[in-house]
Amino acid sequence: MLYDVVRTEEKMLAKAADRKNIDLNMICSKDLYLDLHKDYQEKFGDIVLQRCVSYFRSIHITAFLESKGVKVVNGLHEAFTAGNKLNSTLKMVNAGIPVPKTYLAFTQESSLKALEELGYPAVLKPTMGSWGRLIALMNDSESAESILEDREHMFPIYQNYYIQEKVKRPPRDIRAFVIGDKVVAAIYRISAEGVWKTNTARGGKAENYPVTNELEDLCLRAATAMGEGLFGVDLMESPDGLLVHEVNNTIEFRNTVPITGVDIPSLMLDYLIDLKH
Ligand SMILES: Nc1ncnc2c1ncn2[C@@H]1O[C@H](COP(=O)(O)OP(=O)(O)O)[C@@H](O)[C@H]1O
Ligand SMILES: [Mg+2]
Repeated sequence: MLYDVVRTEEKMLAKAADRKNIDLNMICSKDLYLDLHKDYQEKFGDIVLQRCVSYFRSIHITAFLESKGVKVVNGLHEAFTAGNKLNSTLKMVNAGIPVPKTYLAFTQESSLKALEELGYPAVLKPTMGSWGRLIALMNDSESAESILEDREHMFPIYQNYYIQEKVKRPPRDIRAFVIGDKVVAAIYRISAEGVWKTNTARGGKAENYPVTNELEDLCLRAATAMGEGLFGVDLMESPDGLLVHEVNNTIEFRNTVPITGVDIPSLMLDYLIDLKH
């Protein structure tokens, strides 16, 4: 397992490996240096579980290891697709999966034009990011102008404007966990008082959501659109049914395990062991 920060999830994975007698070697990516001319298959064993929090670090290491013939989960294709909201949304649009109406623009002026077409309220998201960071609600053209102006002073990566309709949903969304070809658990995330985002990183409260056929079908289609591996699928209940608004590449499950009773870290390890055979 490659990591950079030991979160509760990494500890849960290590404990699950212990229980299952799996020889899990934890490698801190911060201590790692890699020689492009060397062979790494022996050092990295049968399979690498990629758990780095830093997205750019993780895709660099995954690219390196894959080119050396090491199997990494999630693979580079999946990490590149699910780790970027533009890539993942495009894959889902092409697969006919219902997603919120979304535009892409590159300047303040063209974004405001896109917003006129889309209508308000709308949501601005960085194409790469998580935990609700830098996701801004634009209620009208005045607030959109100020938010976009702020972005113009940030790193160029924040000037790829992913603009989405604000979905009329209840104050909650759904997070489902896909392991290979199974949806193993799902939760409602109910937003904290006065917070419009539902991320548990922003105080969203988790409640069990029994996996329905509709949810399972949508999540498996969303996961297949990314490739194959471990995914966290975010969905919203719109007036027209479920919409998928995000697929996450490195799943966080610390709140889901106690609420659903599903041992997600064990199931992840089972999946990896199965891949080996
Ligand atoms: N289009 C939208 N309409 C309404 N709420 C949204 C929309 N997009 C995101 N949100 C809210 O913001 C949260 C974070 O958005 P998300 O796209 O999942 O990005 P992140 O990678 O930061 O989790 C969602 O869980 C949801 O509560
Ligand atoms: Mg999300």
